[in-house]
Amino acid sequence: MAAPFMDQAELALLQAVIASQELWRGLAGNFAVRFESAFAEHLGRSFCHGVSAGTAANECALFGLGLQPGDEVICPASAPAFVSLPVVSLGCVPVFADCDPRTLLLSPEGLEAAITPRAKAVMIVHLMGQVAPLDDLLAVARRHGLRVHEDCAQAYDATWRGRPVGTFGDSAAFSLQQSKHITTGEGGLVLSDDAEVYRRAVTFSNSGLAWYQYGLDRPTAAPLGDVRTRGHFSFGHNYRLSELAAAVGLAQLAKLATFNARRRELVAALEDELRDVPGIGLAQPGPHTGPNYWTYPLQVPDGLGTYAEVNYCEPVFQQMQADRRTSLGIPLPDYVQYVPGACPMAEAGARRMRPISVHHGLDVAQIRTAAQAVRAAVAG
Ligand SMILES: Cc1ncc(COP(=O)(O)O)c(C=O)c1O
Repeated sequence: MAAPFMDQAELALLQAVIASQELWRGLAGNFAVRFESAFAEHLGRSFCHGVSAGTAANECALFGLGLQPGDEVICPASAPAFVSLPVVSLGCVPVFADCDPRTLLLSPEGLEAAITPRAKAVMIVHLMGQVAPLDDLLAVARRHGLRVHEDCAQAYDATWRGRPVGTFGDSAAFSLQQSKHITTGEGGLVLSDDAEVYRRAVTFSNSGLAWYQYGLDRPTAAPLGDVRTRGHFSFGHNYRLSELAAAVGLAQLAKLATFNARRRELVAALEDELRDVPGIGLAQPGPHTGPNYWTYPLQVPDGLGTYAEVNYCEPVFQQMQADRRTSLGIPLPDYVQYVPGACPMAEAGARRMRPISVHHGLDVAQIRTAAQAVRAAVAG
């Protein structure tokens, strides 16, 4: 029997939201602000801002970093398109970099090879709860003056040299979508230690309204002549997090350690089933990494992999390739080619990667069944 992972704790806070008669965050954002502060403290970052999705969190963070249309942003070839499409949304150009075929994590060599004078930022994705090789990636980024954004949607509480991922970049994003380590159904979080990144992310998420927290001064709307204005200080979308979602997030955050423990138990059972099975390779976390798997990165023989997120092969990128422009009409330089073979290590790795869910709502029997199915598939 699968274990419920939402219960009276979430219901109690949802009831409190209903009793307050305020379902949106508004300026005060009672539950939103409580959740943001709790998560900032959990991670050890100065600022956290809740939004409507992890994809929105990526976009807000990139806007926060001050990227301009036409800037290039290096993205790992193997990652969800929820990483690279926010780059497109801002009028920037995703440049895909090759990855380590064993982990599908961005490789320092891949990053170095993708950098041009127009590159302004890199998206480091801690895929499947693995931890990207941060020492080398950060050194390359620093050497080339790139801003660093960490996408931690799949990697809550994973660590590098004992420190949680999401604390190394100029900004970081988490997703709260249903399948993640904690969930509000849909939702996302943007983090930074830089007040300017935070301020820009907040305005972008709220159609330019400067609803800052953390005691930061809020600019006041000034009239233009004798016309009153509301104070839309930047371009933006409405990506606000609702009070209902924030209340669930608060309850979920309190359970994160318990969820992590359950995931470790499931990983142990999976490894126990599949250790020493011919043709199957277990995860081999790199030095200094403390993974917290979202899905377990299982290695299988070539062609039996199920990983389907080599971004530039998606139809949307094939359309951009055909048009030689991004979906927002930004021209692609000649060296940006969204074609099969562009990142051969990522493509080869995808053919051998079979991610297995280790969601904390599963139980050990379900994991053993999933492991046996893979064993049968590999045995042919
Ligand atoms: C690595 C990564 N980044 C971003 C996202 C986007 O998150 P959301 O679905 O909350 O928009 C996801 C979601 O699956 C993800 O796995």
